[in-house]
Amino acid sequence: MTQPSTEIQIAPSILAADFVHLADELRTIESADLVHVDVMDGHFVPNLTIGPPVVAAIRKVSPRPLDVHLMIESPETVIEAYIEAGADTLGVHAEACPHLHGTLGRIRKIGEEKGRAVRACAVLNPGTPADALEFVLEELDQILVMTVNPGFGGQSFIEAMLPKIETLRGWIEKRGLPIDLEVDGGISEDNIARAARAGANIFVAGTSVFARPDRKLAIEALRRAARAA
Ligand code: DX5
Ligand code: ZN
Repeated sequence: MTQPSTEIQIAPSILAADFVHLADELRTIESADLVHVDVMDGHFVPNLTIGPPVVAAIRKVSPRPLDVHLMIESPETVIEAYIEAGADTLGVHAEACPHLHGTLGRIRKIGEEKGRAVRACAVLNPGTPADALEFVLEELDQILVMTVNPGFGGQSFIEAMLPKIETLRGWIEKRGLPIDLEVDGGISEDNIARAARAGANIFVAGTSVFARPDRKLAIEALRRAARAA
């Protein structure tokens, strides 16, 4: 049986990067494990960011896998576009998917049709319970627990999400599923160990990487704190 993933990975969120100098910014985070790309549509969340052409441009210059987080309504309509643009993991919000089981299946299937192993991720807003994923676990490669209400970088980590992370890690281990558990929002050197102890293994970090002058040091500090947990 495949073992549950516990490998610690740091995923800087380019939402906090300087978009005018994106190629240079991406070079500063080459020591990261993943690049987290926040897609917002101005409807599901109040903010508006980027679409498939920018994801494709990032793909061309980034040596790291792209962890694409869709904060959009009706994500099922654009799965193919983001896979073609180069998403390695595609995350859809449970709150935006009335047919979540089918949508997650389509991510893997469209990837396979294009000869790629695209990973399916379901995302939970802070107000959404773990139960929303109980019957779709087999369809998942990754779960993303939002630790802020999505839409903006630079918000404070919501401590009340820790029991939800523990619950999900418990299900993953009990069923021996190869699912990564990611957290996103307000992650810093101060709280990353608590999220890791609760069971998260992928850590998105926007401000705590890009607001620092030395991104390599920032990534290493986060990695060290998570591993020490
Ligand atoms: C929030 C985004 C996050 C955000 C994280 O809606 O999904 O990925 O960029 O930024 P920080 O780490 O600054 O909270
Ligand atoms: Zn995100």
